[in-house]
Amino acid sequence: MKSLQRAMSFTTRSLKVRPESIVFSKDQLLPHIIDKDTDENLKIAAKELQTTNNVIGFPTETVYGLGGSALSDESVKSIYKAKNRPADNPLIVHVSSLAQLQSKLLPSDYQIPQIYHRLINEFWPGPLTILLPVRKGSPISKYVTANQDTFAVRMPQHPVARALIAISDLPLAAPSANSSTKPSPTMAQHVMHDLSGKIPIVLDGGSSNVGVESTVVNGLCSPPMLLRPGGISVEELKRVGGKDWENVQIAKRTAESNEAVKTPGMKYKHYSPNAKVILFINCGDGKESISEYIKSNNIDLDKTKVALLKSKQFKDYNGIEVVKDLGKSGEDISRNLFKLLRQVDEEDKVDIIFVEGVEETNEGLAIMNRLNKAAVDVVEK
Ligand code: TXA
Ligand code: MG
Repeated sequence: MKSLQRAMSFTTRSLKVRPESIVFSKDQLLPHIIDKDTDENLKIAAKELQTTNNVIGFPTETVYGLGGSALSDESVKSIYKAKNRPADNPLIVHVSSLAQLQSKLLPSDYQIPQIYHRLINEFWPGPLTILLPVRKGSPISKYVTANQDTFAVRMPQHPVARALIAISDLPLAAPSANSSTKPSPTMAQHVMHDLSGKIPIVLDGGSSNVGVESTVVNGLCSPPMLLRPGGISVEELKRVGGKDWENVQIAKRTAESNEAVKTPGMKYKHYSPNAKVILFINCGDGKESISEYIKSNNIDLDKTKVALLKSKQFKDYNGIEVVKDLGKSGEDISRNLFKLLRQVDEEDKVDIIFVEGVEETNEGLAIMNRLNKAAVDVVEK
């Protein structure tokens, strides 16, 4: 009973911050903040991180993060606890500057491998995460790395994220700020929905612009690997990375997502709303495939509430009233994906969500990675 009380002991405050009022100038580690409330709220959040083991929700350009000091075992444990995340899944460390990465996380004589230089130049701050070695005596909590000999790090582009890290002067370990297994949050209200009562503060800085998580790469192995597709596409990675990255290997789909097709219900859940997600791949305007699916699964549209998330080709379907447009471009579909999955689940309270798949090029690779994991059933023509 006691531990239950302790876990639920917060009255979560959602504090408004205005990203456009935060200015980082070159060579300055601390931002200039024009709006008084934004300045105050960032200081409240930074103080919470510095003086307690609590963790807070904050916006990044990809999705909202749940941040705690990457240097403190207790803070990192609070992250796993609030999210109910399995402890063997390592976290990304977020820094506000290269200077902070070097001074707080790396030995003074360590140089970031050449293979990352162009990528860092082009994509930081931004949605790219790289792996670096954990050296003996590293100050990074072992709970961040799940005891691996590498750690993942990125410099987020979102002014609120960078300001929070710079003002607290703490590298922040931060997974997405959703309850484990749920779709990632792209708005403060999503974080409130999942974690209200479990954390003291959410900084509300509006919607995340990218909408899917960062791309995770490992340049420490040869050939280099893409571990998770995300906000930077493979095409961009190859274009900017040049020769070093032209043979980048794309990590095989995890066993979980392959199994999603063959044995629904058996996979490790990820990005999953309460409603069942059915993914349609290569199904034209969708009419025939949806009709067949409804028939063969004995779905009665008068009794079962269904949502349709369409993007490039799908048409409306007679009898399905909850219809949302993900958008036509990869950028729009990425931005809207988690938001609309949550909306039809949490607000429209549908039982089933039909989603139109997209081609696995450019942004499509990350979109389909998330959808394959969210889906309990895949229809492919
Ligand atoms: O965009 C993002 O990356 C968001 C925002 C909040 O920054 N964060 C995020 O964190 O997505 P999370 O914890 O949900 O995803 C971390 C990913 C996982 O796929 C994890 O397996 C991988 O990074 N990862 C972290 N450390 C790793 C390591 N040492 N080796 C291999 N993979 C690692
Ligand atoms: Mg996540």
